[in-house]
Amino acid sequence: MRKPIIAGNWKMNKTASEAKAFAQAVATKIPSNDKVDSVVGSPALFLETLVSESKGTDLKVAAQNCYWENAGAFTGEISPAALADLGVQYVIIGHSERREYFHETDEEINKKAKAIFANGMLPILCCGESLETYEAEKTAEWIEGQITAGLADLSAEQVSSMVIAYEPIWAIGTGKSADATIADTICGVVRSTVEKLYGNDVASKVRIQYGGSVKPENIAEYMAKENVDGALVGGASLEADSFLALLDAVK
Ligand code: PGA
Repeated sequence: MRKPIIAGNWKMNKTASEAKAFAQAVATKIPSNDKVDSVVGSPALFLETLVSESKGTDLKVAAQNCYWENAGAFTGEISPAALADLGVQYVIIGHSERREYFHETDEEINKKAKAIFANGMLPILCCGESLETYEAEKTAEWIEGQITAGLADLSAEQVSSMVIAYEPIWAIGTGKSADATIADTICGVVRSTVEKLYGNDVASKVRIQYGGSVKPENIAEYMAKENVDGALVGGASLEADSFLALLDAVK
């Protein structure tokens, strides 16, 4: 039985005081992590605040990106070793916004995944197709390619423990969510790709999220699907009440 994982992705939103107020509003209301892993993906600036405000609670903290080297002359980058030292547990990598606006490649994302594991954290590896690919009915092969490249050289044990998020680009922030059947089908493509690469045991353990316009009102439909183990949520994770409502729908 895979434990559900709900992760907020704040993207480039909030100030330090807003991040602190959010953490204080939710910290004591997070459901037990026996039932669900509850994660907030914050801009790097507020990670320390979130880690300290969530101490002793079941709220976990994710970064939204990192570099693949731990230290050195890489101006402006985020060290995975420094994230781990802060107490960050997850790092979102390969989000479509990073691929599109910052030109991240599958090869770079794979290097980041390795660095995240090397520092004792877990990646949330995002994949997803454009509207053009979706309409051309090429989603399955696109996703298979992104997953195969993103997981290159990872061990079976690593892949069993990580999270993969399927986020169709055409459903992100558009209010146009992929319906639960599409989400289940493509999360199933992710799982069968993992099965081809690592076998059935790993495929049955890896957790796969759907993301793209998930809200408290529709999360239950996704979570009812066999291949959907959680959600990566942007807009609806920004307000404390809405974030808690997402968790409540799952626990
Ligand atoms: P959204 O974003 O929930 O606002 O559509 C999801 C994401 O990009 O992770």
